Parts: sequence; structure tokens; C-alpha cells
Amino acid sequence: MKIGVIGYGYWGPNVLRNMIAHTDAHVSVVADQNMERLAVLKKTYPAIQTTTDALDIINSKDIDAIVIATPVHTHHPLARAALLAGKHVLVEKPLAGSLQDAEDLVALAEEKHRVLMVDHTFLYTGAVQTIKKLIDSGEIGKIQSFNSTRFNLGLFQSDINVLWDLAPHDLSILLYLVGRMPTFVNAIGASHTGNAIENIGYLTMRYDDGMIAHVSVSWVSPVKIRQTLITGDKKMIVYDDTEPTEKVRVYETGYTVRNDEEKRRLYTDYRSGDIHIPKTSTKEALQGVVEDFVRAIQKGTQPLSDARFGLNVVRILDAAERSLKTGGAEVRFAS
Ligand SMILES: NC(=O)c1ccc[n+]([C@@H]2O[C@H](COP(=O)([O-])OP(=O)(O)OC[C@H]3O[C@@H](n4cnc5c(N)ncnc54)[C@H](O)[C@@H]3O)[C@@H](O)[C@H]2O)c1
Repeated sequence: MKIGVIGYGYWGPNVLRNMIAHTDAHVSVVADQNMERLAVLKKTYPAIQTTTDALDIINSKDIDAIVIATPVHTHHPLARAALLAGKHVLVEKPLAGSLQDAEDLVALAEEKHRVLMVDHTFLYTGAVQTIKKLIDSGEIGKIQSFNSTRFNLGLFQSDINVLWDLAPHDLSILLYLVGRMPTFVNAIGASHTGNAIENIGYLTMRYDDGMIAHVSVSWVSPVKIRQTLITGDKKMIVYDDTEPTEKVRVYETGYTVRNDEEKRRLYTDYRSGDIHIPKTSTKEALQGVVEDFVRAIQKGTQPLSDARFGLNVVRILDAAERSLKTGGAEVRFAS
């Protein structure tokens, strides 16, 4: 399978390296508007052709599939052109910069019978795969809350706010783990850079059954935090992605409540038990992304992070954006 890659900035080289490592994929050409990036590429991969014009790849008869690793505002025009040219597409997260554009891409991919997959890398990490198994096995019990924090200093983006940049990671993890959309979304944020692009964002989601989820994202933190707390009615999980190896901890911790009708009091019994650290795979997540993409093209399988999954992430981001612009009003999803 002949692959072309568009975008060789910060993330593109990681996808390219994993694509090259796949035995059934042959990356023949890379496009980047920036000549300096192409010069860097040539030093490592002299055999790969380069171009500054993405259309050279999109219109090439030799290319079967295209990776798009360019800034978010370019995802829709590039992916649209690639799908129209009959290519399969692996696009970086988020699928597109607006709900309308994301819906357009999903419809086009379905009409053209092409694979459109979004690189929601975290789904393919050993940690998230382990947590998924724990939840699906019933060990954690009914999920009551999901609370994710993703803070760092930078990288400030100029075309999207911090919610569109960082929250796709947490939202993809949430949607994958619980397998359903929230009912209500609200978000607030703040911009301190004078360009009205929020650099701090807080997003809350409510589910019909009482589950609550919260995602906090920031480009302005002195320390890097990537922590997700998942509370079930049997056990609780702490997922700390900054830990080098022991990323997932399962706490046999919880509580039971008794209501005393007469005294109208709530009695709470707390349980504190062992902490278990499950073994997690250390396989590079992008290897899994690339394998899922190639398999979907070759065998017609459904990728974990397919276009409709990516669309649901964008639906939440779109609702969050609308809430943000109205000072945090709750936005309800049409059922
Ligand atoms: N999956 C992840 O974990 C992850 C991590 C980081 C970034 N990303 C995503 O990757 C994408 C790229 O982010 P980045 O941080 O690498 O950005 P970047 O700015 O570092 O790199 C983007 C590159 O694309 C090139 N480019 C822009 N428009 C182009 C066009 N029309 N044709 C050809 N080249 C073009 C630029 O010259 C630049 O070299 C974004 O969508 C971002 O959300 C994903």
C-alpha cells in the first residue's frame, strides 16, 4: 500500500516513523509547505520524495492512502480533497475544526466507501486498553465519575483554543471507556493572550444515569499533569500518564451509604483496601493506530477510532464551544 504524508511538523514525524515500520505500508512521498521541514526529513529518509504542494500527493495515481498531520483548520479541506480523489485518509485529531466540517467528511467517506480514521492516539495506549478491560469486566462497577486533567506549559496554538487542542485526548478516552455520549455539556474558559483564544478550559458533561465527567485543560501550567480519575461503585482508578511505567492504579476503595429514616441521617461506611497496579503494554500507541488503519483498508475492519467516533468527539467540542461563548450555559444534545 502506497502512503503519502501531509505535514512534517511536530507530530507528523512520529506517524511517519510508525507507518514506515509497518510491513504492508510504503511511504513514498511527504508534503510540507515548509522547505526547512522537508530538508530535515531528507536527512533521515533520503529515499522519500518531497513536495511543498499537498495536491501533488492528493492527485497522485500512485498513492492509496494519505496521512494528514497538519494544523486543525487544514484538516477539512485536505481530507475532503483526498476523499474526493479516492484516497483512504488517516487524519490527526480532532477530525475537523467545526461540527459542520466533521459531518461533511464522515458523509463523504461513507459515500466514497473510503476509510476515514482519526488519530486518537490515546485509545491505543497500553494504559487505556487496560482500563477498558477493567471496566468491561465489571471489576470497577458502575462508573460514577470521570475526571481528567491535562496541563502543560504550551504549545499555544493560533487556529484553535485549548479545548479543541487538548480535550480531544480526554474526550476520546471518555467516549471509548464508557461507550456513550453525555446528555449535557457546559464549558468555561479564559484567554490571557489578548487574541480571544482560550488557553485554559474546563468542560463538564452530565449523563442521564447520574454519571458526571469533567475535563480540565491548560497551556499555562508550571508542571505537566496528565491525570484521569475514574470512580466506579466498586473500585476506583487513577491513570497518571506522566508515570513512566506504573500508569494505572486500581484502588479497592469505596463507600456504602445507609439512610436512617427516623433520624433523617445519612450513614456512610468507607472501604479502604489494596491498591493494585496492573501490567500495561508498552507498545507504542501509534503502532496500533497505523495497524488499525492499514487493517481497515486491507480487510474492511472497523477501526477503534473511525470517522463516526471522531465525529462524536467533535460533537462534544462543538457543544463546549457554544457553551463557552455563552458564559458556560448548559448545552443539551438532541437525542
Ligand atoms: N495524536 C496526538 O497525540 C497529537 C499530538 C500532537 C499534535 N497532533 C495533531 O497533529 C496535527 C499537527 O500538529 P503539529 O503539532 O505537528 O503541528 P506543526 O505546526 O508542528 O506541524 C504542522 C506541519 O504542517 C505543515 N503544513 C501546514 N499546512 C500545510 C499544507 N496545506 N500542506 C502541507 N503542509 C502543511 C506545516 O508547515 C508544519 O510543518 C494537529 O492536528 C494536531 O492536533 C496530534
